[in-house]
Amino acid sequence: MNKLLESHSHEDINIASTWSPPIPAYLEDIYWWTYTRPYAIAFWDREWLVNLILFGNFVRLRDSAMNELETGICSTLQISCVYGDFSSKLAQRVAKNGSLDIVDVVPIQLDNVRRKLPIGDRVHTVQCDATKLKFSDASYDQVVIFFLLHEVPASVKEKTLSEALRVLKPGGKLVIVDYHQPSIFNPLRYLLHPLLKLLEPFSLDMWKQSIESWLPKEFVPAEYTKSTFFGGVYQKVVIRV
Ligand SMILES: C[S@@+](CC[C@H](N)C(=O)[O-])C[C@H]1O[C@@H](n2cnc3c(N)ncnc32)[C@H](O)[C@@H]1O
Repeated sequence: MNKLLESHSHEDINIASTWSPPIPAYLEDIYWWTYTRPYAIAFWDREWLVNLILFGNFVRLRDSAMNELETGICSTLQISCVYGDFSSKLAQRVAKNGSLDIVDVVPIQLDNVRRKLPIGDRVHTVQCDATKLKFSDASYDQVVIFFLLHEVPASVKEKTLSEALRVLKPGGKLVIVDYHQPSIFNPLRYLLHPLLKLLEPFSLDMWKQSIESWLPKEFVPAEYTKSTFFGGVYQKVVIRV
């Protein structure tokens, strides 16, 4: 999509979206029961259920990410959607002359989110793999990655972060919210470990390594801030390019 997307027009996105990336093997192998089957979406597409999985922290984490994002005239990219509640809230905040592009690699996730969005001049959905974004360098003011990194293998974490940084304009902001290693005094640490190991095998990487460790080696952030939530179970990292 490279040069094609520079204007960010809806038409450009449709033309460039004609090539569909394959669904990554880890999604079909591990997460078919949550993301890639229509019945999975019908079951999981409930904000209260997502909130339950996050121990009641969905709104707090969502709003914490939102608070880092500008609402003025700016271009925003959300890398991965799922069930749409984060995306619909983000879409409500897009200014009149701003834009929001939402990507996901699973077409039925995008179909589902589209039903909830005011699709038009300002909000677009694009099927694409986070490791190979269909956008030109330096085309967004801000990029948000909400609970994607823990689900993907380390090589995908690295490529996703590298792509997010590539598409950001100089001075742009990357906001990441995801799992983190809970404090040793947090009882959830002992409950979550076996659950995550069983259901989301790549997520324990987030316990062992910092997000910084998956950034491109040559990248030097202008700003890097990290905060944790709920006794260390979750983290928010904000990177200024
Ligand atoms: C837990 S969700 C991410 C949460 C989401 N950001 C939100 O708004 O709540 C996982 C989503 O990531 C998508 N996904 C997984 N791997 C991807 C990749 N390599 N590129 C793009 N999307 C991906 C899945 O299809 C699924 O919709």
